[in-house]
Amino acid sequence: MNKLSVLQNNLRALGNLHGKAFRLTNLPTYFWLEPTNNCNLKCVMCPTGMDMLRVDKGFMDFDLYKKIIDEIKGYASAVTLAVAGESLYHPQFFAMSRYAADQGIKPILNTNATMLTPKKAEMLLESGVTSISFAFDGFNKGQYEKARVGAQFEKTLGNILYFLELKKKKGKKLPYCVLSILMLGLEECTPEEQVEFLARFKDLIDEVRVREVSTWGSSFKNSTAFSFRPNPVYYPPCSRLWSTGVISWNGTVLPCIYDSNHELALGNLRDSSFKEIWNGRPMMELRRSMLDGTFLSYSGLCENCIVLGTPPIMGIPSGIRLSLADAITNMVGYRFERLALALANKLRKGRFTSKTVG
Ligand SMILES: C[S@@+](CC[C@H](N)C(=O)[O-])C[C@H]1O[C@@H](n2cnc3c(N)ncnc32)[C@H](O)[C@@H]1O
Ligand code: SF4
Repeated sequence: MNKLSVLQNNLRALGNLHGKAFRLTNLPTYFWLEPTNNCNLKCVMCPTGMDMLRVDKGFMDFDLYKKIIDEIKGYASAVTLAVAGESLYHPQFFAMSRYAADQGIKPILNTNATMLTPKKAEMLLESGVTSISFAFDGFNKGQYEKARVGAQFEKTLGNILYFLELKKKKGKKLPYCVLSILMLGLEECTPEEQVEFLARFKDLIDEVRVREVSTWGSSFKNSTAFSFRPNPVYYPPCSRLWSTGVISWNGTVLPCIYDSNHELALGNLRDSSFKEIWNGRPMMELRRSMLDGTFLSYSGLCENCIVLGTPPIMGIPSGIRLSLADAITNMVGYRFERLALALANKLRKGRFTSKTVG
């Protein structure tokens, strides 16, 4: 991965977006790839957990995975190995992340950590993963277990702490580890409980982030099961369509991680190359609908989306900030992410979609 060309591709994406281009001269540098859409939990805010998936479930075949990585390695900087589902469920997850890392793409993991046994902790540390987000939605047992149905507070916490202590013992700087806590409002928690909980991670975790909950596209727009921010104002076009790639377990390319039911499938990597799909007719029509404001009549998926509902900062729309931040992180290191988040909160007077705490 060439750090400079990753940055150039992102600047080109911004230029194409502001120039209202729908056939793009840039390729995405940030990918989400789904090892599996199977999961062991029943989280109340997730379409997978709530049995809302109408697509087949499965595990990505390793040959297909290698074919995809081999194709995108010329321009991809990072790949989050998770979309819907729990990636540590995939029997070849560690081989997948090692393969991406060996090809020069940074593998990133979002995990519920329920299957992170001591043996897997060892394997994960050696797998080339550069960044991990541990999803742990609560400062106390009640908050956590009401959100992450099927998981046990003490056990998951133990798994995460074991991993972090092992990383420390081995003197490893990477993976950069974030504890991600969604603000679901399912149960109260006292400030003392919060302080006590965070103290367990002292000198172990790189960052603890509290995050706003999304309605997962329009999946939960009428839900009363948890609290979320209504997004009555749109800030189109959604820059994700200009800057990121999403690939499901069966090779289907999607415009967005929230399209869990593949309603807007753009093509399949078993039959086409990613480059063909990126500037193929379905993708260009979607971009056009974003530019002319007809996207809601085209698809209801974007209704109440947290990405579209978050205002641009200094002309930089919400969706592109992830890949742009990744491009800058390549140059200056992981501390940049924390600084960028703090800056975003300062500019938005503390009302940004996520925040570092502790
Ligand atoms: C769908 S999960 C898949 C990976 C893994 N199973 C996990 O739970 O982290 C990917 C990310 O989405 C987040 N997530 C799930 N439901 C969400 C929602 N309604 N709003 C915002 N983030 C959500 C999780 O916290 C996690 O960070
Ligand atoms: S949020 Fe993650 S762990 Fe929970 S049901 Fe969805 S995929 Fe599974």
